[in-house]
Amino acid sequence: MTDKKTSNQSQNNANQAAETEVAFGKGLDVGTANLAAAVQNNEGGITVTVERNAFLDIPSDVYSKSMLTKLKVPYIVHNGKLVVIGEAAFELANVFGRETRRPMCDGLISPNETDALPMMKMIISKILGEPRTPGENCYFCVPAPSLDVDNNVVYHQGLFESMINKMGFTAHAINEAHAVIFAELADNDFTGIGLSFGGGMANACIAYKSIPCVSFSVARGGDWIDKNVANVLGCPRSKAAYIKERGIDIRDPKTREEEAVAIYYRSLISYVLQNIKARFESGQNMPSFKDPIDIACAGGTSLVGGFIEVFREEFAKIDFPIPIGRIFRSEEALTAVAKGCLVAAAIGES
Ligand SMILES: Nc1ncnc2c1ncn2[C@@H]1O[C@H](COP(=O)(O)OP(=O)(O)OP(=O)(O)O)[C@@H](O)[C@H]1O
Ligand SMILES: [Mg+2]
Repeated sequence: MTDKKTSNQSQNNANQAAETEVAFGKGLDVGTANLAAAVQNNEGGITVTVERNAFLDIPSDVYSKSMLTKLKVPYIVHNGKLVVIGEAAFELANVFGRETRRPMCDGLISPNETDALPMMKMIISKILGEPRTPGENCYFCVPAPSLDVDNNVVYHQGLFESMINKMGFTAHAINEAHAVIFAELADNDFTGIGLSFGGGMANACIAYKSIPCVSFSVARGGDWIDKNVANVLGCPRSKAAYIKERGIDIRDPKTREEEAVAIYYRSLISYVLQNIKARFESGQNMPSFKDPIDIACAGGTSLVGGFIEVFREEFAKIDFPIPIGRIFRSEEALTAVAKGCLVAAAIGES
């Protein structure tokens, strides 16, 4: 990543330095399961900080306070309760057999969670830090409108724009799957298909030379797999998530539980591919690609063993309307979106 302004050394005064920082900016992945912030580090690489988008509240009594202190779990007091946020909340919930509360659901701020916004504000402040200069750019991701549910992305986007601006940044929204293209398809001149398989959603974007032509989402992701697996097996969702994440290979399920996970994975991948195909065939806003384009997959749900192989199998079953080159998964599937937001900030994408 280079900053155009740094080349002009003669104007290297304090103001210029401030502008340079603003131009670099920060990237923020606002996800249902995880929040991730990306920043350029002093070595010129990218540092990504990830936190679970979850919290746990505990009654504020002397016993609970001393227990949290003994366990060295940081907490804050909110509305008269002790609140633990992020990964610590997740670990504590596991210890006590409780479920964490989750501020987001299906890719968007949860309508059923009244404490969602203040909790997310705390986690985001923690991972994003202060702006390095007033008004530093912060590119954050939002999902595309869903094909299968009537959801309100406009409201969600507005809430986070306002939150990030109030933190002293200048907020810019970018589509989640577009961010995957920024992270993974630089060598292709930012042309191709980016897919983010997250916790609450799967997002798709097709871009031509960095310009998004089509973006959409489906309200199916890791949580959808967990819910369905839990239903068919009659077990809690947390158990289904555990089976899914414990290192299985969906090409070769070994038990009835793994079989259930594999079935819903295949269904999710096929559903996303069918929808991309349908959008191509409807022909709206579609550029004609003269060379084959690549498909880059990212998101925590793509981490399961055998994901890309099953993706290629499902891809081979449908008659895809345009030639496709490589189909690959990001090497850093969980942090690619945050990194893509940072790349967008660095090149000043709006
Ligand atoms: N090793 C793994 N194998 C399978 N699934 C995994 C693994 N690790 C994480 N996941 C799943 O990834 C999902 C979270 O992914 P991610 O952090 O990309 O989502 P998100 O960005 O928070 O959600 P969204 O984009 O839908 O709002 C969860 O459903 C989690 O169960
Ligand atoms: Mg995501």
